[in-house]
Amino acid sequence: MCRDAQVSVRFQVGSQFAFRGDKVRWPYCTKRLFAVSGTIDRKDRIVAQHEIHCQYFSQEDLLGAGCLDMRLAMDAAESSIKAFEAGDVLFPEKIVQIFNDDTQERINCLPATFKKDKICGVKWVSVFPPNPVKYGMQNLSAVIILSEIEHGFPIAFMEGTLCSNMRVGAMGALAARYLSRDDAEVIGFVGAGEQAKMHLIAMKTVRPSLTKCFVGAKEPAEEQQFIKEMSPILSDMEIVGTKSNLEAATKDADIIVTATSAQAPLLKAAWVKPGAFYSHVGGWEDEFAVAKQSSKIVCDDWETVKHRTQTLSRMYKDGELTDADIHANLSDLILGRKPGRESADERTYFNAVGLAYADVGIAYAMYQRACEAGMGQDLKIQHEMIFEHAHLKDWVRLDSPSSV
Ligand SMILES: NC(=O)c1ccc[n+]([C@@H]2O[C@H](COP(=O)([O-])OP(=O)(O)OC[C@H]3O[C@@H](n4cnc5c(N)ncnc54)[C@H](O)[C@@H]3O)[C@@H](O)[C@H]2O)c1
Repeated sequence: MCRDAQVSVRFQVGSQFAFRGDKVRWPYCTKRLFAVSGTIDRKDRIVAQHEIHCQYFSQEDLLGAGCLDMRLAMDAAESSIKAFEAGDVLFPEKIVQIFNDDTQERINCLPATFKKDKICGVKWVSVFPPNPVKYGMQNLSAVIILSEIEHGFPIAFMEGTLCSNMRVGAMGALAARYLSRDDAEVIGFVGAGEQAKMHLIAMKTVRPSLTKCFVGAKEPAEEQQFIKEMSPILSDMEIVGTKSNLEAATKDADIIVTATSAQAPLLKAAWVKPGAFYSHVGGWEDEFAVAKQSSKIVCDDWETVKHRTQTLSRMYKDGELTDADIHANLSDLILGRKPGRESADERTYFNAVGLAYADVGIAYAMYQRACEAGMGQDLKIQHEMIFEHAHLKDWVRLDSPSSV
């Protein structure tokens, strides 16, 4: 039951929204209200007849609400995958705009809709690979818009880098749940950037037995930054920089992660020990022999992966890998259609290029948690419909400035 004394709306947790007479409100968000007729809100303010509001969440709002919770992201990603497999997701092609062919600086627009949840979302994501070196800023940044699809009104505008990076980590962690040894103790990273950091939290969440982490990056200073930022979060883990020695970073690892901006075969097959699980995050990062010696190769979606520029995609285009070499998509493991790890010493390989519906699913879970925590700011989208404004005649410009 709504806590607002003036509004008697019964909410069903998990339903899309509750509606009664002239008032519409979303569950989980006690602050937000848009009305389709005049009413009094919970702060005794008069809400105009056709006001539309949505909630804005900064990254700090989301962090403060406890959204950097890899279990939340993994659960949401898993539910999203199941919903997609059940035919419940609209998932159009992404729109890509590349501004520099050499550096691949780009902005992508990735929409998805969950029909049962009646939520449509879009991730607007910038990938600017020169940023870290040129400006000391992150490569990837994103914002997300969520809308309900009863009226089509927006319900949230939120910082999306956190969600996007958590999605990458959550997909890796879901894969690790099925493909890594459950007694994994050592994790090794090639790359010490934003994805690597989030992947460490993700892998530690799914394999709490991890106690030692090696990290090898292009610059030893990056390894030190990684250690400085991650050690306080994972206090029971020893994190060791390898001074750019990638073999030292990976050869003893039960879980190997490459998350680099390089386009080169950095990870050598000889360094991947029997029983290791490998999560490949970046583009071309490992020699072909790494995949060739793996017992099982799993992708988030092989049909998508094979048309990109990852190592597996390159192998496919070069005729070094066929459809038959792919063991499964992640959904096959989640739904029990294919087995995960079957022996202690098999090497397993996972590559995800990103399924945007998982971003929208995670963003919706974050929105719910942030609303429950009372975080965010109310954004008024409109006070009333365009021609309802009493002073519209004073605002309309019929003549161009030059003719006045
Ligand atoms: N699979 C996905 O869904 C997904 C999603 C987002 C980003 N990515 C990709 O993940 C990769 C990493 O992204 P990020 O945001 O962490 O980038 P970042 O710029 O923060 O980090 C890149 C890291 O790569 C390392 N690196 C580059 N060349 C190297 C070399 N020769 N040897 C060792 N280390 C080297 C750098 O030292 C740095 O630590 C990028 O390729 C990005 O496009 C993948």
